[in-house]
Amino acid sequence: MTIERAAMTIEQRRVLTTAIPGPRSQALHARKQAAVARGVGTTLPIYVERAGGGIVVDVDGNQLIDFGSGIAVTSVGNAHPRVVERVREQVADFTHTCFMVTPYEEYLAVAEKLNELTPGTHEKRTALFNSGAEAVENAIKIARRHTGRPAVVAFDHAYHGRTNLTMALTAKNMPYKDGFGPFASEIYRVPMAYPYRWPTGPQRCADEAFDEFVSLVHAQVGESNTAAVIVEPIQGEGGFVVPAPGFLARVAQWCAENGIVFVADEIQTGFCRTGDWFACTHEGVVPDVITTAKGIAGGLPLAGVTGRAEIMDSVHTGGLGGTYGGNPVACAAALAAIETIQAEDLAAAARRIESIMFPRLQALAEKYDAIGDVRGRGAMIAVELVSDRAAKTPAPALTAALSAACHRDGLITLTAGTFGNVLRFLPPLVISPELLREGLDIVESAFAENA
Ligand SMILES: Cc1ncc(COP(=O)(O)O)c(C=O)c1O
Repeated sequence: MTIERAAMTIEQRRVLTTAIPGPRSQALHARKQAAVARGVGTTLPIYVERAGGGIVVDVDGNQLIDFGSGIAVTSVGNAHPRVVERVREQVADFTHTCFMVTPYEEYLAVAEKLNELTPGTHEKRTALFNSGAEAVENAIKIARRHTGRPAVVAFDHAYHGRTNLTMALTAKNMPYKDGFGPFASEIYRVPMAYPYRWPTGPQRCADEAFDEFVSLVHAQVGESNTAAVIVEPIQGEGGFVVPAPGFLARVAQWCAENGIVFVADEIQTGFCRTGDWFACTHEGVVPDVITTAKGIAGGLPLAGVTGRAEIMDSVHTGGLGGTYGGNPVACAAALAAIETIQAEDLAAAARRIESIMFPRLQALAEKYDAIGDVRGRGAMIAVELVSDRAAKTPAPALTAALSAACHRDGLITLTAGTFGNVLRFLPPLVISPELLREGLDIVESAFAENA
């Protein structure tokens, strides 16, 4: 296999050779059911052989258009040649020493990049981990150590992971939390400034949500007990909820006034997904601590916690780490992915995706009453589906039917939302405009058939 094989020789077009899933995928899926724990679900049981650009090729030879990026991970495209090359070199040099035992330069280079690229010009430090949930866990550890306070405030519709603490931070019960308690203590939940569903309407959303946030934290938690407020600048699994403009900046300011660490969870929104390096920038917000993962390393598992030097360095030596955190192969992939994002200006690519996708979806919303809201930024766009526009009644069955129709026609789509009624689109930032438009044609046909 040449380096080019994976990414470059996949023709960037949709091809359906069998029904989806095809017979080989079905046979593999039968093996999955016999061998893999049922709790590990599968959105679309096509089994993947290769992927690159905006295309995923399955074992039956079908070529599907990718509007999922493995849940916002392969922003530079799968098996990007630069990532492949750097990983190959690193694997040949060494695969693991454990940074806590005998360190290596690749970890430092990723930390330096994160310190440079995350919002704010203050002095920063970074620690690397394996997954988003692990990064969030560590951000909370650091905030508690720094402040000496126990409480953490999270939002309605939040998603922060599947470990015990991050389940506690996550809002939605099914499937993430059901039956998995008891959860970590000292987590408090407040309403999100969710413009579409704010009871008095989007205009008053930022002000009222901020007042409610302040009042709830004051009355039920106490500012002096609060270590951190954690928020996704655009909520991911919660349904691509873009907080009302100004809300995040006011929360961040209030945290600063009260000695509380403002943590931005940019695990899904980071690395140019929303058209800038980090989504906080759209709101002019500089977080004290920022968590990253997903798009950071072109598909290899890596996560980071980056924050103000005085916060990060409040932890004693040996208090942070893990056997694999900042694995050299993952770091090499991250350096290649970051270089690619810069060289190919994928922030501009994300904005171009928005400029094609948003108007098409808005036009659909004019045609179909089932679309209650179109929202998002860059290459992170969603439609919220309702069975009654006035009452905004969630339509999860329609959402599932639309997604299934897209899958059948060769488009990988994901759903989201606390009520399971959000169809979300996360194409790789390198997707061609032609594939993007073809994918949107499929979405349009799905609406014609189901809505
Ligand atoms: C905002 C956010 N935080 C945390 C996580 C958890 O990341 P991981 O699945 O890598 O543990 C996710 C994953 O979807 C996420 O979107």
